Amino acid sequence: MALRQTELRPLGKPVGRKEDPRLIRGKGRYVDDIMLPNMLHLCVVRSPYAHARIRRIDASAALAAPGVKLVLTGEDLAKMNLAWMPTLAGDRQMVLATDKVLFQYQEVAAVVAETRAQAEDAAQLIEVDYEPLPVVVDPFYALTPEAPILRDDKEKKSNLIFHWEAGDREETEAIFREAPVVVKQDVRFPRVHPSPLEPCGCVADYDTARSKLTFYVTSQAPHAHRTVLALVSGLPEHQIHVISPDVGGGFGNKVPVYPGYVCAIVASLKLGVPVKWIETRTENIASTHFARDYHMTAEIAAREDGKVLALRVKTVADHGAFDGAADPSKFPAGLFSIVSGSYDFKAAFVEVDGVHTNKPPGGVAYRCSFRVTEAAYLIERVMDVLAQRLKMDPAELRLRNFIRKEQFPYRSPTGWVYDSGDYEKTLRLALERIDYEELRKEQAERRARGEFMGIGISTFTEVVGAGPGHTFDILGLKMFDSAQIRVHPTGKVIARLGVRHQGQGHETTFAQIIAEELGLSVDDVLIEEGDTDTAPYGLGTYASRSTPTAGGAAALCARRIRQKARKIAAHLLEVGEDDVVWDGTAFSVQGLPGRSVTMKDVAFAAYTNVPEGLEPGLEASYYYDPPNLTFPNGAYIAVVDIDKGTGAVKVRRFLAVDDCGTVINPMIVDGQVHGGLTEGFAIAFMQDIPYDADGNCLAPNWMDYLVPTSLDTPHWETDRTVTPSPHHPIGAKGVGESPNVGSPAAFVNAVVDALSPLGVEHIDMPIYPWKVWSILRAHGVTE
Ligand code: CDP
Repeated sequence: MALRQTELRPLGKPVGRKEDPRLIRGKGRYVDDIMLPNMLHLCVVRSPYAHARIRRIDASAALAAPGVKLVLTGEDLAKMNLAWMPTLAGDRQMVLATDKVLFQYQEVAAVVAETRAQAEDAAQLIEVDYEPLPVVVDPFYALTPEAPILRDDKEKKSNLIFHWEAGDREETEAIFREAPVVVKQDVRFPRVHPSPLEPCGCVADYDTARSKLTFYVTSQAPHAHRTVLALVSGLPEHQIHVISPDVGGGFGNKVPVYPGYVCAIVASLKLGVPVKWIETRTENIASTHFARDYHMTAEIAAREDGKVLALRVKTVADHGAFDGAADPSKFPAGLFSIVSGSYDFKAAFVEVDGVHTNKPPGGVAYRCSFRVTEAAYLIERVMDVLAQRLKMDPAELRLRNFIRKEQFPYRSPTGWVYDSGDYEKTLRLALERIDYEELRKEQAERRARGEFMGIGISTFTEVVGAGPGHTFDILGLKMFDSAQIRVHPTGKVIARLGVRHQGQGHETTFAQIIAEELGLSVDDVLIEEGDTDTAPYGLGTYASRSTPTAGGAAALCARRIRQKARKIAAHLLEVGEDDVVWDGTAFSVQGLPGRSVTMKDVAFAAYTNVPEGLEPGLEASYYYDPPNLTFPNGAYIAVVDIDKGTGAVKVRRFLAVDDCGTVINPMIVDGQVHGGLTEGFAIAFMQDIPYDADGNCLAPNWMDYLVPTSLDTPHWETDRTVTPSPHHPIGAKGVGESPNVGSPAAFVNAVVDALSPLGVEHIDMPIYPWKVWSILRAHGVTE
């Protein structure tokens, strides 16, 4: 049951979501709902080829078509020095192609017309003369000397974007040389796409009289976008007003700046009227930034009794035509080096090669803290390979190797300092709740009858909350976050944050933090995000960073308000400040609990009766630079049954026990876990974006790139342990991405466990029924 929003002390309680009355009644205001007078519509012309030289573009027929006001090509943009723009990874990307295209669906021209239909019709009339070039689809081939160099605009003549390492090579090699047991597994994390319900889009509105650009955009990071737009366009930053209205899901897809945004802005600047660009589903999947696409090889060195010693990982990462990874600057492979996971390895060595191919740019942190999903999947999969090789129970293997709770703060062999955790407690709770022993007995009975039942475990560790400014920046912008709180005379609060939610419930949870700190109710606090003219500067919402960063800022900002409020309370209570005590809902006089004033009394006095020498008003800002990341973790268990005739996998049960430290709102955390598990389920069983040898995208829509419906989705069971973060102001860690990070391995481990009597040690995702059916058939189980 949801708690009423008028209750005091709301932290940790299932307060009903403040945003729901608007969002579930269809009253959200999304970018495509914005209609401005004289607004025009933009359509992007895209390349049918994955690699081709552009000989000529003829726009004359399109320009003569009804309603058409403007056609933009790369040449037009080049004259304004806008044909290329920087990516978040420090690479550069074509806005509109000038001389060649590097992936199918790449932006080649833009048409602006009175209606969207007119723009789309005219786009068909643009004639582009292409000369096809040899296509590079396979990232391993891209690294060979025979492969054509794709980025001839770069100084370095190679398809290798970067080589990145973490850990200690010598120590790791030495342990591997001596180790009694070594397992090795190739594992691919397929190319997937965040595919939010609302695709990307914008309305650019340049007011020529005020020289001000108002830019409505589907953005997870409005401030960073404004800075990038100012740098790219040369417009003064304070004359750019970015508004990210309601956002229908982001999942990392709405972190980058896309060519359509730049084209809409240029069109509005040229025409002096608002220009809207809303992409189609196919444009979203086939041209905006993808996620994952990691080809990984992991080896574990261990003792015969299962104690792990060292980990070695080599990865080829397909980044597509432009390096569009939304990673912090110092981490070209994101936070992938968290790959030693929840286990106490003596040494580890991790290598990643980023590679260009003729595919769309990426990869973004799809519900993931910068490549953590790939890392968690890999280690959880390979731990199971080790368990199978040693004929050990996978739960037992994990319990034997966990970082113990007394080892925190724990320094991992790749240099991360984990803040807190009690992995054994979390796994034991999961085993007990699902009745693991009983399930293993049932499995043995079913196996004896020739049935295929599997149990899969994943005990992952995450790393979220980028981040400490000393280590984390994007394009030089330090990754702090911020809050600004203004308490009005009647005790009602408007709080603005530097992050921007896309459905995660910030309007409720951040109101809970502030209400708790100020002795108010959630109803008293209005949260605003996403408007750069009003909100304090912040780096945005992705990678489960909002709670660890802006959540900390909100608590500390409220405490700053309370400090001033205490002075006013002392004045009202006619005592010295040291005699005032705060009990969570009111200030009272030490030893005289009957004499008290509430925050509302203080707020009124802040505007009507301040003590002499004190500034009137009651507001504060806080820019919070966290001292470390937070390390949420969990123990997930999947139980599956395989249909022998079709290879279909039925997820019979799935239990997620999460530990995200102090919980702000248990109902919202459960909702986050349900959503993330559904996405993890989709990745494990349904999703991949394949390309043919010519670079044609074979899954550019929801017919081929599957998104689970409520009918496909299993029932989720949840529970939690609470190990607060020692450095976060309220002990909270992020949670939004944990279920997406932790669950794919549980699903795959369960399927492999089911098929293990046939000698199966690994299956790459997505586990389509035909893959399972082929295995069953190869072993004579089915015809
Ligand atoms: O950055 P993002 O909002 O996507 O992720 P998050 O920080 O993990 O938060 C997701 C939602 O869960 C937010 O509404 C948080 O305030 C809420 N949450 C919570 O109630 N308790 C936690 N310990 C962590 C997150």
